[in-house]
Amino acid sequence: MESKKSFMPVSDRNLKIVKGQGNYVWDDTGKKYLDCVAGIAVCNTGHCHPVITEAICRQAQRLIHTSNLYYPSNQEEFAQKLVELSGIDLGNVFMCNSGAEANEAALKLARLKTGRKEYVSFKNAFHGRISTPLSATYKPEIREPFSDFGPKCTFVDYGDLDGLKKAVTEDVAAVIVEGVQGEAGILPAPCGFYEGIREICDDKGALMICDEIQTGFGRTGEWFYYQKTSVLPDIVSMAKAIASGLPMGAIVARKDLFFAKGEHGSTFSGGPLVCAAGLATAEVLSDLIPEVCEKSELFGNLLSGKNPRICGLMIGLDVDGSNTDVRDECMKRGLLVNATGKHTIRLLPPLTIEKKEIETACRIINGVIDEASD
Ligand SMILES: Cc1ncc(COP(=O)(O)O)c(C=O)c1O
Repeated sequence: MESKKSFMPVSDRNLKIVKGQGNYVWDDTGKKYLDCVAGIAVCNTGHCHPVITEAICRQAQRLIHTSNLYYPSNQEEFAQKLVELSGIDLGNVFMCNSGAEANEAALKLARLKTGRKEYVSFKNAFHGRISTPLSATYKPEIREPFSDFGPKCTFVDYGDLDGLKKAVTEDVAAVIVEGVQGEAGILPAPCGFYEGIREICDDKGALMICDEIQTGFGRTGEWFYYQKTSVLPDIVSMAKAIASGLPMGAIVARKDLFFAKGEHGSTFSGGPLVCAAGLATAEVLSDLIPEVCEKSELFGNLLSGKNPRICGLMIGLDVDGSNTDVRDECMKRGLLVNATGKHTIRLLPPLTIEKKEIETACRIINGVIDEASD
């Protein structure tokens, strides 16, 4: 039989990682890499942090799954922790299994509570890849409140409040926004943008959904990006770093916004194992978040010749020529960075990264970019 890879070729990859510890990973030949990708902003606590692995192992020996027909013992504790971290007074939590599912929950909730069907998003935004499972679900009471699948979404230039004002009509249930457009190459929101969105949403009766899937859990120096602004969202969606690598997502919604029995659900959501990992993650991150600003400044200083775009530990650099060549050369020199878009190198290091490691990463990146432009 012809030899063939069985996993679908959905991404371009050329490294087999077999071990991770702290800020490093190892490939199958034993080569060590400083990891400035961190599982795409998932491993904010580094790889296999002892507090987190201990919490996961302890929980795995006790109980792994119950379904939501029962109360998992630690689910309410983690839900209360997320409400506290979000700053949304008396907020309501729904837990799920990924970022796309968190946004699905946020957008469904907005449709349900406003009775409107449309959304507004921004050009270059990324909010996930699921679309249609609900349209193929038969039970009318689950499907019909959301029928008319493929709700209209209008895309406005990121930062354009005049355009947004025109786009948010009386048919719009919600505006969904990222504080830093990560997949687009690290494009931080302009000053005053969030305040402007909040005002427009309030005027027009639309909800403001902050997608904190990439920016959350300390990535920008606060638990959530919007905490750098003066606004609170109606709904915040989160995932990625929430449970240090176990698949999990969640939303926290304003106290009057919640799904009633049967309006939403998921078999695995908020199970005991992910909640144990989430609680341990929150504990570890609370000591790391205060260090993000200083680490961010060091990256900024050391990469200043390359015009970086930086918000906390989200760093984007545009390069001349091929960004995948730069990524691959960094890899050869023992550094993992991510290539996104056509020209951008993206760094999303663990929040545990040390000063010396930041110096090493920047030395390698500066060297590779300088040599490429010689
Ligand atoms: C801002 C943002 N929203 C949503 C998602 C989708 O998350 P997931 O891949 O867990 O479905 C991502 C993933 O990169 C993201 O960066």
